[in-house]
Amino acid sequence: MKYNDYYNYINFDSLEIDWTAFEKESQNAIFKVLRFESDVVDDKDYINWFSYQNVWYTANINNTTDCPNINKIVKIFEKVMQEKYLENNKIIQSKLQLTFLLTKANEEIIKHTDLWESSIALNIRFYEDTSPITFTDIGDVFYKIGLLNVKHEHMVKASNKDRLVFRITPLNQDYQYVCECFDKAGLLIKS
Ligand SMILES: [Fe+2]
Repeated sequence: MKYNDYYNYINFDSLEIDWTAFEKESQNAIFKVLRFESDVVDDKDYINWFSYQNVWYTANINNTTDCPNINKIVKIFEKVMQEKYLENNKIIQSKLQLTFLLTKANEEIIKHTDLWESSIALNIRFYEDTSPITFTDIGDVFYKIGLLNVKHEHMVKASNKDRLVFRITPLNQDYQYVCECFDKAGLLIKS
């Protein structure tokens, strides 16, 4: 079966996640302004924006000891993908990235595509009154939990408050394969 190649909705209701406590797990994280870290893109506007922007912050989570909700989600991810991502609560960073993303109010994120190895994003959007993701080809996609194929060009419009997202990125995976794994686990919402 071929899944929507831009986005699919994921349902975590059965996991009984404490969303308020989960959001609080971002408070211990150390946020840094995101700077352009690759020379593979030959796009001056893009490079310039990432060189001076002061609106988009990221915080990597490499240890889930103090983050029980994140730990729970990674364990589900291990089950779904039939992979090992945790060793003594430490993330195996060659296989998985966990990141809180914070975009400042009234600021947008420039059009871009993510690098191939990290082009799958299972995003959890904490506040429904903040911006969706906007794909150049298909427009706005609102989601609570979205499995996104960010190798397709996309941007984020400005919100009138800070926008917080938690992102799980399985590295070097095929988007359709990841969708299939979530579907088999009964967590992908069929549209
Ligand atoms: Fe992106």
